[in-house]
Amino acid sequence: MRVLGVETSCDETGIAIYDSQYGLIGHTLHSQVALHQVHGGVVPELASRDHIRRIVPLIQDLLVQASSPLAELDGIAYTAGPGLIGALLVGASVARSLAMGLNIPAVAVHHMEGHLLAPMLEDDVPEFPFIALLVSGGHTQLMRVDGLGKYHILGESLDDAAGEAFDKTAKLLELAYPGGPALAELAKQGRDGIYQFPRPMTDRPGLDFSFSGLKTFALNTFRKSDGNLHSDAAKLQNRADIAYAFQQAVVSTLAIKCKRALQQTGLLRLVVAGGVSANQALREKLRALAASLNAQVYYPRHEFCTDNGAMIAYAGCQRLLAGESDGLEINARARWPLNQA
Ligand code: KG4
Ligand code: ZN
Repeated sequence: MRVLGVETSCDETGIAIYDSQYGLIGHTLHSQVALHQVHGGVVPELASRDHIRRIVPLIQDLLVQASSPLAELDGIAYTAGPGLIGALLVGASVARSLAMGLNIPAVAVHHMEGHLLAPMLEDDVPEFPFIALLVSGGHTQLMRVDGLGKYHILGESLDDAAGEAFDKTAKLLELAYPGGPALAELAKQGRDGIYQFPRPMTDRPGLDFSFSGLKTFALNTFRKSDGNLHSDAAKLQNRADIAYAFQQAVVSTLAIKCKRALQQTGLLRLVVAGGVSANQALREKLRALAASLNAQVYYPRHEFCTDNGAMIAYAGCQRLLAGESDGLEINARARWPLNQA
């Protein structure tokens, strides 16, 4: 079965073709980073308009590049939510209409299911059941995954998502959007032991998270220290030390909860996905954790950690193979809990 995947939930237009027999046939992506950078964050209306401009040429280019004509498609998968409603509607309308024109099924995919299954595109495929840590700009969730669509949430963030905390802290450290990768880059120059940030909610049982306090802690640390420094070099080093301590706190907190989830369930496979799974410090920490527990950890390749069409094509293909598809309506939902997908 060959499926075209369309992702337009936020600031990336991602298109891909996945084939259940041959694997990923091709993928392409247009990032809107440059468009939003001057505004310091994603402007929803600009995002929708850019998706409109890009989506058809991207699909056409991919079909040519991958030597896979429309006639070879068996289905079309599109991100139906959660995300920015205008942006979602662009992908949903194009995908649903194209499927109708080709007389093939369309399937509405949950964006986080796409992230969750992205490691399945790699050679070393995790078997069900496993623990999944989903860390993106909008979600931080720990779940037990027993199969396609069998998602049991064990814990989640009560306030900011991990990626959101990275982005907000980056902003107060005066880093450009998108903040997460910029903060991770700055943290490389940070020194260990200069600042000690708390590990929120790790001193009590449970698997929920809270990251909004860390951002406030970073702000207070910055305000207390920055004014006392007089050279640009000292100010930059101080921001790097704060970035380092913040990142350590997020990474350690996530690792503590992953360890708990693995121990509580007795599972030995951990899947980590979503934009923050691109973070090198997190990857290293969870690799060490897995080794200490004799467990395995699985990540998507770097480019499939953040939003992309490949994960939607893959998830849609699995749903179609399971006999699911959606009707003629165009589905788009800004909010959509994963356990209702
Ligand atoms: O999954 P994603 O592309 O979009 C959502 O579904 O939200 O995740 C984007 C998030 C942003 O908050 C971004 O700052 C964060 O992932 N991110 C990172 C890194 N790369 C992306 N955070 C920390 N370190 C990174 N290397
Ligand atoms: Zn995402």
